[in-house]
Amino acid sequence: MEFLDLKTQQKRIRKPLEKRINKILDHGAYIMGPEVFELEEKLADYCGVKHAISCSSGTDALLIPLMAWGIGPGDAVFTTPFTYVATAEVISILGATPVFVDVYNTTFNIDCAKLELEIERVLHEGKLKPKAIIPVDLFGLPARYRLIKKIAEKYNLKLIEDAAQSFGGAIRNEKVGTFGDVAATSFYPAKPLGCYGDGGAIFTNDDNLAEECKAIRIHGTKLDKYNSEMIGLNGRLDSMQAAVLLEKLTIFDEELEMRNEVNSYYRKYLNNAQYHPKEYQSAYALFSIVLGSNNKRENLIDRLSKEKIPSVIYYKFPIHLMKAFQYLGYQKGSLPFSENLSQSIISLPMHPYLSKADIDFIINTIQSK
Ligand SMILES: Cc1ncc(COP(=O)(O)O)c(C=O)c1O
Repeated sequence: MEFLDLKTQQKRIRKPLEKRINKILDHGAYIMGPEVFELEEKLADYCGVKHAISCSSGTDALLIPLMAWGIGPGDAVFTTPFTYVATAEVISILGATPVFVDVYNTTFNIDCAKLELEIERVLHEGKLKPKAIIPVDLFGLPARYRLIKKIAEKYNLKLIEDAAQSFGGAIRNEKVGTFGDVAATSFYPAKPLGCYGDGGAIFTNDDNLAEECKAIRIHGTKLDKYNSEMIGLNGRLDSMQAAVLLEKLTIFDEELEMRNEVNSYYRKYLNNAQYHPKEYQSAYALFSIVLGSNNKRENLIDRLSKEKIPSVIYYKFPIHLMKAFQYLGYQKGSLPFSENLSQSIISLPMHPYLSKADIDFIINTIQSK
């Protein structure tokens, strides 16, 4: 059994993908070739957003808009510590300060009441200027954007959706990618829509921001390739990866439905999974359950591995307790839900091709103590 089965998927798209790759080998436009623009158009259509700007990774998809807004030293950017490190890393890279807000222990997404308290605390303290919020759509579940948007508007903050895991998700039929000033997704191979390398995309309805992001992605250049107008990056997606994504997009909605079925089947037997509020559609990037303690988790990992059932811990270390972020001065106990989840959560196999027989076997293993 695989934690994530990319081989079955590849069999389905292999022939048309080879055709697309051969076409690239023939035309030779490996960088910014026609596949990149075709993909961007299809991604924008898919999300119902004006601009989709492909880029080299989910990390760069977060970094580039922050650069476009000029976020830097003295600025506070609010996010959660229970996420992949990239979410906070991009803030620190720019010299701005990540301010961590705890998550709900039901959805594992940013707690809106605590977010507002933290913004007020930072304002009251007067050392940093609140500039942006990066909510994370953890495991594919969109955060509470209706509330978060109100907070962003109240305090005049930019809102950037970390949709690395949630491309394909929705709230009340409104697709992920449209909730903030900008959204950032990742096409890392393990993501619901993944390429065969690194990749990402930025989504926005803001024409000016889109122009700035496009420039930053290519070394800050606009009209003249050799005359940078601002500091940028080598942040492009290559044509081969765009070709992979174009083929995967043709089966993406069907795969999303299959993931949904896997998720529902698991939930018939397990009541300790991430809570999905009504009208929120997850992209089902991961299926995670919470056990009472690290001991119980260790015990389960043992039993699963004896049966050759793979499992992974997302995330074992909350970001505020990582060595790299010690400089921020957070102590153990400061963000309790994130810390507890890190101690007790485990992710089980999740992919569109997981059979009911495999899920039955996983459930039986979990339930046979
Ligand atoms: C929540 C979150 N943010 C950001 C990223 C960064 O994406 P990438 O690995 O494509 O740079 C990831 C990817 O793992 C992620 O899960």
